Amino acid sequence: MADHFKNLLAGNSKWISFSNNTTLNLLFFLSLLLALSFSASGAKWDGVKVTRADSQALHAIKNELVDFKGVLRSWNDTGAGACAGWTGIKCAGGEVISIQLPFKGLGGRISHRIGQLQSLRRISLHDNAIVGAIPATIGFLPNLRGLYLFNNRLSGSLPASISNCPLLQTVDVSGNQLAGIIPPNLANSTRLYRLNLSFNSFSGSIPVSLSRSSSLIFLALQHNNLTSSLPESWSSVSSLKYLTLDHNSLSGKIPTSLTRLVSLEELDLSHNKLEGSIDEIGSLLALKKMNLEKNNLDGSIPNSIQKLLNLSVLNLSNNRFRGGIPLTIGNITSLNSLDLSENNLTGEIPLSLSNLPNLTSLDLSYNNLSGAVPSLLSKKFNSTSFAGNINLCGYGPSAPPCPSPQPKPHRRRKLSTKDIVLIASGALLFVLLILCFVLLCCLLCKKTKSSKGGRAPPPSTSKAAAALAAEGETGGDGGGKLVHFDGPFVFTANDLLCATAEIMGKSSYGTAYKATLEDENQVAVKRLREKVTKPQKEFEVEASNLGKIRHRNILALRAYYLGPKGEKLLVYDYMPNGSLASFLHARGPETTVPWPTRMNIAIGITRGLCYLHSEVKHVHGNLTASNVLLDEKTDPKIADVGLSRLMTSADVVGTAGSMGYRAPELSKLKNASEKTDVFSLGVMVLELLTGKSPSEAKDGLDLPQWVASIVKEEWTNEVFDVELMRDASSSTVADELLNTLKLALHCVDPSPAARPEALEVLQKLEEIKAEADVATADVGKTE
Ligand SMILES: *[C@@H]1O[C@H](CO)[C@@H](O)[C@H](O)[C@H]1NC(C)=O
Ligand SMILES: *[C@@H]1O[C@H](CO)[C@@H](O)[C@H](O)[C@H]1NC(C)=O
Ligand SMILES: *[C@@H]1O[C@H](CO)[C@@H](O)[C@H](O)[C@H]1NC(C)=O
Ligand SMILES: *[C@@H]1O[C@H](CO)[C@@H](O)[C@H](O)[C@H]1NC(C)=O
Ligand SMILES: *[C@@H]1O[C@H](CO)[C@@H](O)[C@H](O)[C@H]1NC(C)=O
Repeated sequence: MADHFKNLLAGNSKWISFSNNTTLNLLFFLSLLLALSFSASGAKWDGVKVTRADSQALHAIKNELVDFKGVLRSWNDTGAGACAGWTGIKCAGGEVISIQLPFKGLGGRISHRIGQLQSLRRISLHDNAIVGAIPATIGFLPNLRGLYLFNNRLSGSLPASISNCPLLQTVDVSGNQLAGIIPPNLANSTRLYRLNLSFNSFSGSIPVSLSRSSSLIFLALQHNNLTSSLPESWSSVSSLKYLTLDHNSLSGKIPTSLTRLVSLEELDLSHNKLEGSIDEIGSLLALKKMNLEKNNLDGSIPNSIQKLLNLSVLNLSNNRFRGGIPLTIGNITSLNSLDLSENNLTGEIPLSLSNLPNLTSLDLSYNNLSGAVPSLLSKKFNSTSFAGNINLCGYGPSAPPCPSPQPKPHRRRKLSTKDIVLIASGALLFVLLILCFVLLCCLLCKKTKSSKGGRAPPPSTSKAAAALAAEGETGGDGGGKLVHFDGPFVFTANDLLCATAEIMGKSSYGTAYKATLEDENQVAVKRLREKVTKPQKEFEVEASNLGKIRHRNILALRAYYLGPKGEKLLVYDYMPNGSLASFLHARGPETTVPWPTRMNIAIGITRGLCYLHSEVKHVHGNLTASNVLLDEKTDPKIADVGLSRLMTSADVVGTAGSMGYRAPELSKLKNASEKTDVFSLGVMVLELLTGKSPSEAKDGLDLPQWVASIVKEEWTNEVFDVELMRDASSSTVADELLNTLKLALHCVDPSPAARPEALEVLQKLEEIKAEADVATADVGKTE
C-alpha cells in the first residue's frame, strides 16, 4: 500500500509501451458511445499499456469495494494490465475512460482515488450495494460525462464539486439514501441533459439553476423531502421534456413560467402541497402526461385544457377542483386515461366525453356530479368510474335509474299559470290520498299486532319480511321510512323487506344479514337493537352524517330504514370476501395469503383510519379484524364506522374496544381515542405478520406481548407467519417484514403518548413498501 501512495505522488508520469499515432488519435477522439460498444464486444486491447497513475487508482478502488462475487478477480497484475482485460474497464490511449460494473453485487465504498482517473468519462456502478459517500474528488474529473450510481446504498450529500465537471451530461444517483440540499450550481455544465436524484432524502428547495438550465431534458426529483415553492423562473429556451417532482412537500402555486415550457411532454407534480388554480396549463402544448394528483389545487378545470392535443394521461384526482367538467375535454382525442376523482366537481358529465376514441380508463368517482351518465360511457365503464356521486344516475345495470331517461319534447313548453294550479292541486290531492292510506295502514297494523299477541319466532335463514323486520310486520312498506344515500343499487323499502336474508353475525349492536334483493343484487343489512339506539330524530341526524362518509377503505352506508315501530335497519355494500378475521384465520391449509396482499390490506386499513381521524374527526372505538371487510379485490373496508353515534351513550362505554384489540388504558378510562384506534390497528398489523389471531392465547400473553417477548429474545423470524418466511429469503422482503414489525410494535406501545398518529403509520408503511418496490423494480432498468 505504501508503495501505491508513493507512486501516486509521482503523479502523471505516463508511459506508453509503443506509440502508433494513428491509433492513438483515433481512440482519443472516439465518441463515448463508440468507445463503449468497441470494448463491450470483449475488452479489445489497443496495445497501449495503462498509465501507472491510473493503474494505482484502480487498485485503490478495488481495495475499497467489497467484491462478494469475485467479479474483480481479473483486476490483478499477472496479466497484461488494466487496459487488457480487466472486467468493466475501458481505456483509450492507456488511460481509463470508463468503469462499468452494474449489477455486480459489489459492496464497500467508492475510493476517493477515483478522482485520479483524469480521462474518465463514465462511471457506471449502478444496481450494486455500495455504501458510504460519493467522493468529492469526482469533481476533479474534467472529462466526466456520465455518472450512474443509482440503486445503491450511498449516503451523505451530493458533493457540490460535481458542478466543476464541465462536460457532465448525465447524473443519475436515484434510489440511494442521499440527503442534504441539492447543490445550487449543479446545472453549471451546459451539457447536463439528464439529472435524476429521485428516491433519496434530499431536502431544501429546488435550485434556480435547474429551472434556468437550457440543456436539461430529464429532471427527476421525485420521492424526496423537497420543500418550499417551485422556482419562479423556468428558462424560456428550455429543452425540458420530463419533469417529475412528485412525492415531495412542495407548496405554493404552479409558476406561470413553468406552464410555458413548450417542449414539456411529461409533468408529474402529484403528491405535493401545491395550491392555486391551473388556469394557464393550456400553454403546455407538447404535454402527453400530466399528473397533479393529491395536491390542494382549486378553481375550475379551464376550458383551455383542450389545447393539450397530445395529452394521453390526465390525472387531477384528489384536489379541490370545483365547477363543471369542461366540454372541451372531449376535443383531446389522444386522451386514454382520465382521472378526475375525489374533487368537488359539479354539473353533468359532458356528452363530449363519449367522443374520446382512445379512452380506456375513466375515473370520475367521488365528486358531486349529477344527472345521467352518457350511455356510451356507462356501457364502456363500470360503476367504479362513477361511484360516490350522490346525484348521478343511470350507470351500470344496478345504478339508480334516471327519473326520466328520454327528455320528452313537450317538456320544453313553458307552463302556464293554469297548468301550475292544476298540477299543484293534483299533487295536493295525491298527498292527501297517501296520508289516508298511511293512516289506514297504521290502524290495521295496530289491530293485527294486538290480535297476534305473542312474539314472532327469532329470525334465521329465511324469507325476509319476517327476518329483517322481525316482529310481525304486515309486509309492504308498512309506513316505514327508507332514506337512500348514493350507491350502486336502488331498491324500495318493500324490496328490502322482501329480500331473502341470511344471518352473518351478531354483536352487541344488533344482527347483520346478507340480503339478496329480488333482482339478485346483494346488500348487507344491519338490524340494530332498538333498545340501545338513539331516539328517531337524533338517529336520523347522525345516520345522514354517516351516509356522507365516503372513502375507498370505509364501508359505505347506502341507506337506512326506520320501521313504523322503531325498527332500525342500516344498508351497506355487501363484501363477498367476508372479514379480515375469517380471511386470515378460517382459510384452508392450501390457500396462502402472500405478503404483498397483506401489506396492501395493512395500508388500506390505515388509509381508512387516517380519513376517519383527520377528515371525519371520528374515533372508531371498535376496530378489529372482524370489523374489516374485504371486497372482491381484497381491498379492505372498515365497517361499523360511527355505529356508536347511533347508540345511547351508556351503551357506547360498554362496548369500547373488543378483547384482544383493546388498548390497555381503555379498560381503565372507558374512553376510546385516536390512540386506542392506533393500538387496534397495530394489533391487526401484527395479525397480518404473524398469521395469529389475538384471541389465541399464547402462554397467557396477548398478541402484542407475545410478539414483544419473542423479539426481545432475538428469535425475530419465529414471529412471522411460516408462509411469509418462504418469500423472506429475498433480503428486500425480509427488510420489509422487519420494518413493518417494528412499526406495529410502535403502535401497540403500552403508553398511548408513545404511539404514532394514524397518518404517521400510513407514511411509514408507504415508505416501507416504496423501498421494497424500488429494490425489486430496477432489474430491467437500462442506462
Ligand atoms: C488475473 O487476471 C487474469 C485476467 O486478466 C485471469 O485470467 C487470472 O485468473 C487472474 N488471476 C487470479 C489469481 O485471479
Ligand atoms: C430516475 O430514476 C428512477 C428510479 O431509479 C427511475 O424510475 C426513473 O425512470 C428515472 N428517470 C429518469 C428520467 O432517468
Ligand atoms: C366542496 O364544496 C362544498 C360546497 O361548496 C364545500 O362545503 C366543501 O368544503 C368542498 N369540499 C372540498 C374538499 O373542497
Ligand atoms: C353538491 O351539489 C349540489 C348542487 O348540485 C349542492 O347543493 C351541494 O351543496 C353540493 N354538495 C357538496 C358536498 O358540495
Ligand atoms: C370495473 O372495471 C375495472 C377495470 O376496467 C375493474 O378493475 C374493476 O374491478 C371493475 N369494478 C367493478 C365493480 O366491476
